[in-house]
Amino acid sequence: MTTSDIRQKYLEFFARHGHKIISSASLVPENDPTTLFTGSGMQPMVPYLLGEAHPDGTRIVDSQKCFRSQDIEEVGDNRHTTFFEMLGNWSLGDYFKKEQVSWMFEFLTKEIGLDPTRLYVTVFRGNDQIGRDEETVGYWKEAFGAVGIDAKDVDFSERDGMQSGRIFYYGEKKNWWSRSGVPSNMPLGEPGGPDTEMFWDLGSDRKLHESSVFASQPCHVNCDCGRFIEIGNNVFMQYRKTETGFELLPKQNVDFGGGLERMAAAVNDNPDMFTIDLFDGARKVVETISHQPYSSDLSNNPSTYSFRVILDHLRAATFLIADGVLPSNKDQGYYVRRLIRRAVRFGNKIGAKDAFCGLVASAYVETYKDAYPELVAKQDLIISELTKEEAKFKTSLEKGLREFEKLFAKSSAVSGVDAFNLYQSYGFPWELTEELAREKGQVVDRNVFQSEFKKHQDLSRAGSEQKFTGGLADHSTEVVRLHTATHMLHQALRTVLGTHVFQRGSNITAERLRFDFSHPDKMTLEQIQKVEEIVNTNIGRALPVHFEILDLDTAKSRGAIGVFDDKYAELGGKIKVYFIGDKATGEYESKEVCGGPHVENTRELQRFHIIKEEPVAAGIRRIKAVVGVPTPSS
Ligand code: SER
Repeated sequence: MTTSDIRQKYLEFFARHGHKIISSASLVPENDPTTLFTGSGMQPMVPYLLGEAHPDGTRIVDSQKCFRSQDIEEVGDNRHTTFFEMLGNWSLGDYFKKEQVSWMFEFLTKEIGLDPTRLYVTVFRGNDQIGRDEETVGYWKEAFGAVGIDAKDVDFSERDGMQSGRIFYYGEKKNWWSRSGVPSNMPLGEPGGPDTEMFWDLGSDRKLHESSVFASQPCHVNCDCGRFIEIGNNVFMQYRKTETGFELLPKQNVDFGGGLERMAAAVNDNPDMFTIDLFDGARKVVETISHQPYSSDLSNNPSTYSFRVILDHLRAATFLIADGVLPSNKDQGYYVRRLIRRAVRFGNKIGAKDAFCGLVASAYVETYKDAYPELVAKQDLIISELTKEEAKFKTSLEKGLREFEKLFAKSSAVSGVDAFNLYQSYGFPWELTEELAREKGQVVDRNVFQSEFKKHQDLSRAGSEQKFTGGLADHSTEVVRLHTATHMLHQALRTVLGTHVFQRGSNITAERLRFDFSHPDKMTLEQIQKVEEIVNTNIGRALPVHFEILDLDTAKSRGAIGVFDDKYAELGGKIKVYFIGDKATGEYESKEVCGGPHVENTRELQRFHIIKEEPVAAGIRRIKAVVGVPTPSS
């Protein structure tokens, strides 16, 4: 069974159970200021888990592209990748624990044929506020019982290890899920709930974690020795954090997320993710350019690490570029640059002489062409961006490495100033120097690097620094107000500049909105003032905001603007349209396709003010604006 077969079987299985198949959202979240990338399947679903109506109903299934920048340096072992696909099914206030457990069991054991004797599950042990999840335990027992397995639930201690049993209780660190982890870390309003995870047993003789540190610890299903791999997590998203503890969400939701590649590893009974079929084409290319075969045996083969970094990073870069992220020194683009440069460096280590990034990317386009046609559509861009970046870095890399060695030889250390010079002269990202130093057992002073960096002020990464810390989203009032302001701005721009104006990008933080749109010229002061005036007049009119769920044609015929992407067309499905204006008169100041959320009334915005208008690319302008109490004009 190929990985594509598993993806297809999953989507179809849940479609048979009444789920609507939706296509993956972009790797770059829209209107979510809290994170640079889509890092899990549930992320685009958060508004719906919090109670917004989803245009496709209450049962949804998908395979979501995910990218986790925080894992860049984890790549190298048998199972970490920065890019992965997360299979997800959602009940938005529809079915709950019983159905989820029995469907999952059926899917794993019947559809993809995993041997139930090698499946194990974990459930929430409970804490002082929320009880132990006995209900879920009951459903697992039923499911295992139906195939003749007496599934015992075991209260065990992680210190003693696994002993016997099939269902294991863990506390909130392992079996509670929210975007911010354990209950005490959750901000007010954040949704979360107990979960139940499923594990595949690779076999007790296969302590496959390649660093043996864990292999000597007592083994249990959720330990790190590598014997068990987690293949999916069923989150019962039913609570919301309050001042005093938790309250039930308006609806009881199921949020399932399972790594597609991990399932494939279980199906193949092979713990090395990099040998699953999705990597076959690309792996061959790396074998060719490095003149050596891939080996899964990390401890005996120094090239294994490099192979994995190259395979992972170039796949992630391929998908990110397809979603519009080009290598740069800012925000998301910085990561793409770092991925490519890291791949080039590891290619250099295993003896790649000629340019290879484009070749590896082409192999991925071929592999994923059916599931992700956007790769085919963007193939030329992907290859040209990779090739450009590779060439740019390659010439500096060898010189920079020599310089690094020289610096190191001189003083057995590398300073923050050196790191900055390597950055400026050879394009070494900070992390590369840090990594090279670490390989030599050295630490580089980041503060010094940063202050050098600020001094030179040639990059504007500072603004995105806050995002790198991954603060958590709450759909805070500020963000929601700015989101509504974005719609009003969009329409006002079309009124003032013309209907050639379309959204080209949007990013909102608690402080400001940033809106990119198509328009060839710099806006005049009069135009800017006119746009502000229109928005402020509509704020002053205290217009109500509401949404309707419409089919595509109705939405278009009613003049809704916004991104009607292929996803909707493909679904032939329904979309959500937000209207600003009085329903009674049917006169609207804005009609836009959008997932929400928005304010209820424009008066909540108080006052709208444009703080910047600037170019971003040929034919694209950018506006930054704020809302809130009137400020003295600036
Ligand atoms: N929310 C869970 C996760 O992201 C399951 O989708 O892992």
